[in-house]
Amino acid sequence: MGRIVAVTNLKGGIGKTTTVVNLSAGLALRGSHVLLIDVDAQGNLAMALGVEPRRTLYDVLVDGATIADCVSNARPNLDLVAANESLLTAQPEIARRPDWARVLEKALQPVRSRYDVIIIDCGGSLTVLNLNALNAATDVLVPTTVEPFSLKGLEMLIEQIRRVKGSQGALRAILPTMYDARTRQSVDLLESLRARYGDLVLSPIRVNVRLSECSAHGKTIYEYDPRSRGAVDYALLVERLSERMNIGTAPTSPVPARPARQIPPPPRIPRDPAPVPPASPPRPASVEPPVVTGAGSMLTSNCPNCGRDLQRATVAGYRVAYCDHCKYRRQDLAAGGRR
Ligand SMILES: Nc1ncnc2c1ncn2[C@@H]1O[C@H](COP(=O)(O)OP(=O)(O)OP(=O)(O)O)[C@@H](O)[C@H]1O
Ligand SMILES: [Mg+2]
Repeated sequence: MGRIVAVTNLKGGIGKTTTVVNLSAGLALRGSHVLLIDVDAQGNLAMALGVEPRRTLYDVLVDGATIADCVSNARPNLDLVAANESLLTAQPEIARRPDWARVLEKALQPVRSRYDVIIIDCGGSLTVLNLNALNAATDVLVPTTVEPFSLKGLEMLIEQIRRVKGSQGALRAILPTMYDARTRQSVDLLESLRARYGDLVLSPIRVNVRLSECSAHGKTIYEYDPRSRGAVDYALLVERLSERMNIGTAPTSPVPARPARQIPPPPRIPRDPAPVPPASPPRPASVEPPVVTGAGSMLTSNCPNCGRDLQRATVAGYRVAYCDHCKYRRQDLAAGGRR
C-alpha cells in the first residue's frame, strides 16, 4: 500500500503548500506516482501548479463522486484532487455524519494502491478536514518557520498529532522552512529545535524569493529556476523523505486522470542550464550550509569536512551531495540534464 502523508501545521503561511508542491514534483520527477489532495478551501495547490480543475474534493466528500472522477493530471506522474471555497460549506455537512472523522480516509481507499504516495495539503487551522487528513495519514510532515511563536505552536501541534495518531506517532519529520542563517535568532532556534526533536528535524529549506515567485507563475521550483537554492533544498528533501518513508514506484499504473487545463501550459526545463556560480568553501554547521559547485566535485563519496558518508539526490538536472553530520553541501550539473 502507498503511503499517505499529511503536511500540516496549525499556523498559516509557513510553507505547507510550497513544500507539498515541490516535494511532490520532485518525487514525480524521480519516477514515483503521486496523488495530491488539497483539503484547504483556499485552493492554493491548483493555483501553484497552474491547473484549473474541472471537479474538486467537494464533489467527492459531499456529492459522492469517486476520487478517480475528480483527479486532474498536473504533470507526468503527478495527479491532483483540488479544492476551492466550496469546501467551506462542505465541512459543517461532513461534521453531521457519524463517520465524520474518516470520510477522507474512506474516499482514498479505492485509489491508494495505485499511487506510491498520496500527499495531503492541510489548511492552517484545526478544521474537520484537517482532522480527516490526520486520520487518513500514515505519515505526518510538519513544516515550521524558525521563529519563537512557530515553535510554541509546534509543541501544541505535536501533542495534537499524538492524540489523534497514538503515542507511537506518525510524525515522520519536522521541516524548518524560510530559514535565514544570517539571523542569529534563526540559527539559535534551529539548534534548540534539533536539541529537542533530534533526527526528526530535517535540513532546513532556506528563504528564497524564487520559491514565492514560482507559485505565482503556476510552476514548480524545478521548472521555474532549477539552479536556485530553493530547488537544491527541495531536491534534498525529496531524497531524504523517499528514504525515510520508503517511497518507491507504484505497483500498478495510476488512475487515468482527466486532462486539466493548464494556465499557462507546463514549461520545459532547459536541458543545459547556464553555468553554475563558482565554488564557495564549506562552513561550520551553525551557519547556512554551503553549496559547492563544479565539474568533478562529485567524485568523492565522503564528506571533505568530517569524513562521514554523503547523502545524495538527483533532481531537476542537479546532483546534490549533503552531509547529515556537519551540513556540508555541494551540487553539480548531472550529465545530460533532467529527463
Ligand atoms: N523558503 C521560502 N522562501 C521564501 N518564500 C517562501 C518560502 N516558502 C514559502 N514561501 C512563500 O511564503 C508564502 C506562504 O507559503 P505557503 O503558501 O506555502 O504557506 P502555507 O503554510 O501553505 O499557507 P496557508 O496556511 O495559508 O495555506 C507564499 O507566498 C510562498 O510563496
Ligand atoms: Mg497552503
